[in-house]
Amino acid sequence: MSGVLILGAGGHAKVIADILSCQGVPVIGFLDDNTAIWGATRLGLPILGGIATWREHLPGGLILGIGDIIARQAVVERLGPQAYDLWCTAVHPRATVANSVRLGRGVAVMAGAVVNPDTSLGDHSVINTGATVDHDCIIGEYAHIGPGAHLAGGIRIGQGAFIGIGANVAPWLTLGAGAIVGAGSAVIGDVPARVVVKGVPAHQ
Ligand SMILES: CC(C)(COP(=O)(O)OP(=O)(O)OC[C@H]1O[C@@H](n2cnc3c(N)ncnc32)[C@H](O)[C@@H]1OP(=O)(O)O)[C@@H](O)C(=O)NCCC(=O)NCCS
Repeated sequence: MSGVLILGAGGHAKVIADILSCQGVPVIGFLDDNTAIWGATRLGLPILGGIATWREHLPGGLILGIGDIIARQAVVERLGPQAYDLWCTAVHPRATVANSVRLGRGVAVMAGAVVNPDTSLGDHSVINTGATVDHDCIIGEYAHIGPGAHLAGGIRIGQGAFIGIGANVAPWLTLGAGAIVGAGSAVIGDVPARVVVKGVPAHQ
């Protein structure tokens, strides 16, 4: 295939570039709307220009290199249906993903993550470094499971929800769309949509 373009050029983008390199996937470079970094390099790969130029580079694939959930969703919506078939996944070779896991478009699974059987990872979701997602979970589109977070079995994570670094979520709970769980929290009850919870046990 021709190479993959990474949209965004910050820290998250570097992690994605490294995963693709470990997978042996050729990367064309990065696109980012911050004009101040055009022409610079990250991990030896060029920042080629703004995201609007993506078609000019004739990418064989696209992947988000932006960590912020709202910004990620905005970029996918901006590119629209023309990009639909180009979104590709990045799964680190040292992540463990069960055979029965459903991987949506544009999913990223970082090094050391574990995703157990019959879990579904929604389009453009992120399972960050060392996070674990047990069996039968449903991770919504754009949701981000932060580094070292642990989800027990049967959990539903709504679209665009964020689980902070090192948080734990007890089994069979539902976290609504856009919910946020603070770093290091222990979630032992359902969390409504767009509610922020934190602490041990987690509360609003
Ligand atoms: C929960 C969170 C979203 C709240 O952010 P915020 O609204 O800016 O909160 P503030 O920093 O203003 O703190 C508000 C209060 O909540 C407390 N608090 C904040 N985060 C907390 C957490 N993770 N656990 C327990 N208490 C927390 C603060 O101590 C403060 O308490 P106080 O009012 O008694 O002083 C944020 O602190 C957090 O944990 N983000 C996760 C970051 C992360 O994991 N990033 C990974 C990137 S890959």
